[in-house]
Amino acid sequence: MCGIVGYAGKNRAVPYLLEGLEKLEYRGYDSAGIAVAEGGALRVTKTRGRISNLEALIAAEHQSPATVGIGHTRWATHGKPNDVNAHPHRSMSGRFCVVHNGIIENYLQLKAALQAEGYVFVSETDTEVIAHLLDKSWDGDFVSTVRKTAAQLEGAYAICVLCSDCPDQIVCTRWGSPLVLGVCESGTFIGSDVTAILRHTNDVYYLDGHETALVDAHGAVFFGKDGAAVDKQPRRIEWNLSAAQKGGYEHFMLKEIMEQPKAFSDTVSPRITADGTIAFEDFRLTDDEIRRLRRVAVVACGSAYHAGAAGKYVLEKLTRLPVEIDIASEFRYRDPVLDEDTLVVVISQSGETADTLAALRLANERGCKTLCIVNVVSSSIANEGGSVIYTHAGPEIAVATTKAYSAQVAVLYLIAGYLAGKKGLLDKEQLAAYCKDLSAMPALIQKTLDDCEKQIQALSQMFIPLEHAYFIGRNLDYACAMEASLKMKEISYIHSEAYAAGELKHGTISLIEKGTLVVALAAYSDVFQKTLSNIKEVKARGARVLAVSTERHVDALGEVDYRILIPDCNPLFSVTLEVLPMQLLGYYTARARGCDIDKPRNLAKSVTVE
Ligand code: AGP
Repeated sequence: MCGIVGYAGKNRAVPYLLEGLEKLEYRGYDSAGIAVAEGGALRVTKTRGRISNLEALIAAEHQSPATVGIGHTRWATHGKPNDVNAHPHRSMSGRFCVVHNGIIENYLQLKAALQAEGYVFVSETDTEVIAHLLDKSWDGDFVSTVRKTAAQLEGAYAICVLCSDCPDQIVCTRWGSPLVLGVCESGTFIGSDVTAILRHTNDVYYLDGHETALVDAHGAVFFGKDGAAVDKQPRRIEWNLSAAQKGGYEHFMLKEIMEQPKAFSDTVSPRITADGTIAFEDFRLTDDEIRRLRRVAVVACGSAYHAGAAGKYVLEKLTRLPVEIDIASEFRYRDPVLDEDTLVVVISQSGETADTLAALRLANERGCKTLCIVNVVSSSIANEGGSVIYTHAGPEIAVATTKAYSAQVAVLYLIAGYLAGKKGLLDKEQLAAYCKDLSAMPALIQKTLDDCEKQIQALSQMFIPLEHAYFIGRNLDYACAMEASLKMKEISYIHSEAYAAGELKHGTISLIEKGTLVVALAAYSDVFQKTLSNIKEVKARGARVLAVSTERHVDALGEVDYRILIPDCNPLFSVTLEVLPMQLLGYYTARARGCDIDKPRNLAKSVTVE
């Protein structure tokens, strides 16, 4: 969604701001803008559309020598994606310019009060109230004015402010939306995520909630919620910018699909000990608390929810705890039944998804044990979770998740084995065998990708003209069907549905007619025969069936029209292999249809609004 950059340094700010905004393009946006401090005035340039439009406008309008500035990519929430609603927003006096990520929930009340005092609004955004509040709160002290303004805001915000009275400085603050700062030789950089500043430094400061930073060319001074100075230490980012570049691939999505052997291995291997047990760096439940657990609730959105759906089957099978899985936007408003013997597992790649964060806060408030599976270090969900297990997938840029999903599923396998061991449901030998199977997966992921890419490329041809596709499966295969269907629809714009195979005959089978394409996920041995019956049902109604199964079932597959075979593995881990051809199928279909694969329409990488 929206992205923020800022720079205060020795050099011209505009090239750094544009470069930072380009690094944030992957988050999804529909307008972009910058503001720079030029002597006693603030110059704003902003426009609807891509950053290339902004570059053209800047090239035509000015070659500003300013060395301090802020920038923004906006993903429209309040008001249309047009030039006026684009950030930065200027206060009525012209003293302040602000860029903002998040949503100000009380903006209508604030706006009415400001209008009653004569403030004139030009945009439809919630952000403009911040600009005018800054004017109203101005007390001659830049930091104090920003803090007084932020204290009136409800909702989520990360804001960066320029003030014409302090042209060498930027003040930023946040609550609920992230901000990161980096200090190096050429100046101080601000970003809403580290990719915006990684080219300049790997040592970054994560601004905590309600903290404020006063930034200039020499560094940053931090203030806590109470306004007292805070001594912050930088954190080292272990990956470099090349990890966030295409590296010769046509799209980030394909690169990230191909990185899955490493993402899985980096996530699993540090947690498997030499004697074949599982250990986590931050698992705060005691053995006693684990034994007392009565149930598990998994909460997430989108693909993270689908990872949780796969995890549910494995967790229940191994731990014999009831596991419920919920979409975060549903969970948070249904007054869920929770208690201290419930483990709430929250899953998020970005660690910033608004509904998932709200669900975590609800679980924390209700006294549950919370355990977060997160990819982005020091993100809001990671910071607020009871325990955190990081997926080591590295930066994921494509909007359609692939390697982060696989790493999330990998962590769920680890958690299931860990809890089963602690509960005495897997003995030492069984746990060691489980870990051995898990450690074998990266090589099998590699083999699957190597074996099926060409075949998928060919099979994708028949999806190109489709308007509808169906993905069916049972149990773990159903979890995979949901993810396969999402991958297809979100990047290729083909309508697709995932159905529990056994449920088809309760309604949806009426849509199956001669030529309908049905992808049958049939890898999980426990239900293979049952899924086979459902394949026969749709074939009998004229469907063309593309089956995905394992080598051990090849003879039983019978007369499906097309088949993709994945290697045999521990059946509980079959989703991890089965999803790979489905990711490739979505990718190659979208590519053949000429879609904008890494930045699909209307979507954002990190959904920071509810
Ligand atoms: C899937 O390809 C999407 N990017 C989306 O469904 C995503 O998984 C969802 O928005 C959750 O994001 P999160 O993992 O960052 O919380």
